[in-house]
Amino acid sequence: MNTPAHDLPSRYGAVAMTLHWLIAAAIILNIIIVLAAPEGRTPLHMAIMSFHMALGLTVLVLSILRLVWRGINPVPPPPQGLAPLLRLAGAATHHLLYGLMIAIPLAGWLMVSVNHFTPSWFGLFAWPAIPGFGGLDKAAGHGWHETFETIHVVLGWAMIILIPAHIMAGLYHHVLRKDNVLLRMLPGTRLRSGV
Ligand code: HEM
Ligand code: HEM
Repeated sequence: MNTPAHDLPSRYGAVAMTLHWLIAAAIILNIIIVLAAPEGRTPLHMAIMSFHMALGLTVLVLSILRLVWRGINPVPPPPQGLAPLLRLAGAATHHLLYGLMIAIPLAGWLMVSVNHFTPSWFGLFAWPAIPGFGGLDKAAGHGWHETFETIHVVLGWAMIILIPAHIMAGLYHHVLRKDNVLLRMLPGTRLRSGV
């Protein structure tokens, strides 16, 4: 089946699906590796953190692209007959996820920028500091580092809690409600008729 690039009223298009699944895989991988990273400044810890930062910055760019694409491409509406409260819960969760997809890597980038640290993007180039945040003196930089670190970690844990809720909602639609919400986000699937 040929999926168009843009979204349709019945299903997500190829661009939205590709970005959704790339971002989802990158975020889940990034959380797993940062939680599995060994303590202490060992070479393995440094390598994992370097990968965590590069992948996280990639998520930031892909999420901005996703939001721009969403802005020019109306997404499929909620399925018919969905209770207003569930409709609200879905919209709220999606907005929250978008907020976290931007705020978490941004806080990470701010955290390293104020320390004058420019992470390597997969060994290809040094990712610059956020303009205006790279020139702080050591004492001010340290204070801001702590602040952005706390924000980064707290929001990171909010994402860890929200992802299973989001997955459960997708499964609820597919298994219990038997609508097209999960299918319309999966490439190459045939939609159920009459729902
Ligand atoms: C998809 C984006 C990202 C996610 C979901 C994410 C998630 C997390 C989480 C959950 C933690 C806490 C781990 C723990 O409790 O031990 C963490 C730590 C950390 N993250 Fe990220 N992160 C992302 C992007 C970034 C970026 C872009 C940077 C920097 C450029 C970064 C730098 C760090 C650092 C330095 C730590 C360690 C902080 C500490 O030891 O307290 N992260 N990240
Ligand atoms: C880190 C992981 C994930 C993030 C950050 C994420 C984020 C999002 C966001 C922001 C949307 C709203 C799309 C829009 O309408 O603009 C969405 C939709 C969706 N996601 Fe995820 N997602 C993740 C993982 C997953 C997983 C593992 C599943 C599998 C069940 C999934 C299933 C869906 C489905 C079915 C939709 C479409 C909902 C609808 O049609 O209203 N997502 N996701």
